[in-house]
Amino acid sequence: MLIRRPSDIKPSEITPESIYLRRRELLAQAIAGGLIAAASPVSFAEPTPAAGPAATLNYRVNAQYTVSAAANTFEQITHYNNFYEFGVDKTDPASYSGSFKPHPWSVEIAGEADKTGTFTLEDILKPHPLEERTYRFRCVEAWSMVIPWVGFPLGDLLKRFSPTSRAKYVEFTTVLDPKDMPGQRERILPWPYVEGLRIDEAMHPLTLMVVGLYGRELPNVNGAPMRVLIPWKYGFKGGKSIVRIRFTERQPRNTWNVADPEEYGFYANVNPNVPHPRWSQATERRIGGGFFDQRQPTLMFNGYTEVAGLYRGMDLRANY
Ligand code: MTE
Repeated sequence: MLIRRPSDIKPSEITPESIYLRRRELLAQAIAGGLIAAASPVSFAEPTPAAGPAATLNYRVNAQYTVSAAANTFEQITHYNNFYEFGVDKTDPASYSGSFKPHPWSVEIAGEADKTGTFTLEDILKPHPLEERTYRFRCVEAWSMVIPWVGFPLGDLLKRFSPTSRAKYVEFTTVLDPKDMPGQRERILPWPYVEGLRIDEAMHPLTLMVVGLYGRELPNVNGAPMRVLIPWKYGFKGGKSIVRIRFTERQPRNTWNVADPEEYGFYANVNPNVPHPRWSQATERRIGGGFFDQRQPTLMFNGYTEVAGLYRGMDLRANY
């Protein structure tokens, strides 16, 4: 097994190699096969950076959730991240998400619940008081940040739809919008992006439905208008720009696991003892941490050890 220093890892290596290397070829095939109209060629040529500052939110600071390290700056959080719908490079989301429109927005609630249907974003958010929680954020690529999110416990939202006793999992689907998401015009991943959680993970009080950042509405770059955040799991579990929440009896398939099952599992709990097949997970690079002190040990469950009981008796090597 080849263990690389994470700072050596390039975006082309994070994307399953087979997909990354073939993406131009797959795109050409898709155009030839009529999947994508040749008259609307893929273009990343014109960057569309985000417009001015977003609206401020009303929220309370939840002092129970703080981190001793300083939070990353708004600039760092919005200019170094993964949102492959806008491209595979860390700066692509900031460069190409400006045309994306998170309003108006609606969310479909489906599957094993008494109340299902399509709801406006306003209906979804209205009953939920917002709070700010500062969480550690750990990406599977072994970099990390500290981020002041604004949101509310996901479980409070899910309970409103009265999931049935057959609801064992929850699936989250990201919007499909190739017009304003240039990455979706390439077959980088199977679109739309889908993620899933066990229902007890989704209901855990730490799991947030995020609608803001640094006291303002969530920027397009970070998953506007709402995205899921599970602080003890690698960042890829948190689907962005959610349009569908489905309660299921069987474990949903999640995009990265479909793309490369050897490298990305369903659970994706932060675990320094289980290396990724191509690099170690024992340490992480804190973005903005300075030249000498940026590497630090990765903590089990990203430090949120109160979730350990969810996995009692499970082999976390097999269930990576
Ligand atoms: N959600 C969608 N729809 N598309 C993505 O490419 N990337 C995931 C996750 N959610 C991704 C996504 C990964 S790999 C990471 S590390 C986080 O988003 C990054 O979240 P951030 O922008 O808040 O840093």
